Amino acid sequence: MISGAPASGKGTQCELITQKYGLVHVAAGDLLRAEVAAGSENGRRAKQFMEKGQLVPDEIVVMMVKERLLRPDAHKNGWLLDGYPRSSSQATALKEFGFEPDLFILLDVAEDTLVERVVGRRLDPVTGKIYHLKYSPPETEEIAARLTQRFDDTEEKVKLRLCTHHQNVEAVLSMYKDITVKVNGNLSKNDVFAKIDSVLDELLEQRKAGSGYL
Ligand code: AP5
Repeated sequence: MISGAPASGKGTQCELITQKYGLVHVAAGDLLRAEVAAGSENGRRAKQFMEKGQLVPDEIVVMMVKERLLRPDAHKNGWLLDGYPRSSSQATALKEFGFEPDLFILLDVAEDTLVERVVGRRLDPVTGKIYHLKYSPPETEEIAARLTQRFDDTEEKVKLRLCTHHQNVEAVLSMYKDITVKVNGNLSKNDVFAKIDSVLDELLEQRKAGSGYL
């Protein structure tokens, strides 16, 4: 699992982790945005909460994430949960469904940096890749021309999202404290990944030593 404040770099690190470790990236925010884009009833309801920077109600999110985790690719390759759980009720539901994480990565980033990252973020609708106008600019003019911005990526909305994050983070952290690794997310994206990579590597080594396979 990977957790952290809005724009702490969860999605960016997930791209790097999945490239190297082949895990299936399951991001609650991406699942919700897909529902919004599809114009479904759940998407329409979810958008009302997302626009206010609030958590979308459990009756929408919990089953959505559960169904994605039950798909065969996640079972076969392992999963990397991004932005979920965000409340103790979501963490409890996950446990009841039998999903137990090996590791809880917490990205720790200074608050003024978060705002700058949000307002400069752009997404490539073709590849799904995350860019930043200053820190990870698009490679070509063609990509630059098609980049989009998320509807909740304004300074005003990120402040609301941050407030929601502060209200819920402690409850979630307390449930995973034995497997939590706090990573300094203020560094460059490659330096952050180097730290995560070393932790994952160590975990795999421990597993190999403990089980005799992998
Ligand atoms: P969600 O989509 O999960 O948004 P978030 O938590 O606010 O996180 P972000 O996606 O904004 O940021 P990120 O940490 O992935 O950062 P990124 O890598 O893109 O949730 C959106 C909404 O959906 C919520 O507000 C809520 O309403 C709802 N929702 C989601 N999950 C829910 C749940 N479980 N329950 C209920 N409701 C839920 O990076 C940001 C920018 O910084 C990019 O431009 C990137 O290029 C740049 N960057 C990244 N790393 C670095 C670095 N090291 N140095 C410099 N720049 C960097």
